[in-house]
Amino acid sequence: AGKLPMAGKHVLITSGPTHEPIDPVRYIANRSSGKQGHALAEAAFAAGARVTLVSGPVTIPDPDHVTTIHVESAAEMMAAVEQNLPADIAIMAAAVADWRVVSEGDQKIKKDGSGKPPGLELTENPDILRTIGHHKTLRPSLLIGFAAETQDLIKNAAAKLERKRADWIVANDVSPATGIMGGDANTIRLVSANGVEDWPAMDKKDVARQLIARAAEMLSRDKS
Ligand code: C5P
Repeated sequence: AGKLPMAGKHVLITSGPTHEPIDPVRYIANRSSGKQGHALAEAAFAAGARVTLVSGPVTIPDPDHVTTIHVESAAEMMAAVEQNLPADIAIMAAAVADWRVVSEGDQKIKKDGSGKPPGLELTENPDILRTIGHHKTLRPSLLIGFAAETQDLIKNAAAKLERKRADWIVANDVSPATGIMGGDANTIRLVSANGVEDWPAMDKKDVARQLIARAAEMLSRDKS
């Protein structure tokens, strides 16, 4: 029997949303289900890799045979990713919140009776993909990001490829009418230095298997 295509490789994956606390009982979140990231972790294990999955809060189960690290916020996700480098391949499939609340209060925010809502001061979260893309020593050989957009999909994905120093950006249109966010199916466009490849609509598990197969092929090509 032949060796599995990712035998001996470490694959690090982020998945799910992040939750950014507002006060002890409230948070800012998004509609990411973690289905695509978790499917990638399963596919990488099936291909023979050692897999570390850093997951934000999701309702789906941890994949079998994968080391799953549970985090809540972007800051926690960043720390978990850095602690688990080096990796041969990193796939940043999490929908990381762009902003967090500057100072998380230690008490629940109350209505003050004035009828005026509280102002939440936001600050930008660290960009995990960009940080590891620019890593001097620990940048993975293959770095894959996602771009979920509701407009200018390819333009935005190409800009991310460059800015974050990713090798591939998996672009998908998450306009509500597509049903992609939270759903089982995905229609992706793979953006790389070689251009844009349109994939047909398929189950997120099939997207995962095909992406992992492509990634394994890429790694073996690099070696030869
Ligand atoms: O810039 P945008 O959030 O659209 O980029 C999406 C890509 O960047 C995804 O791969 C996502 O996991 C990653 N990202 C990240 N850390 C952030 C924001 C996005 O790793 N703070």
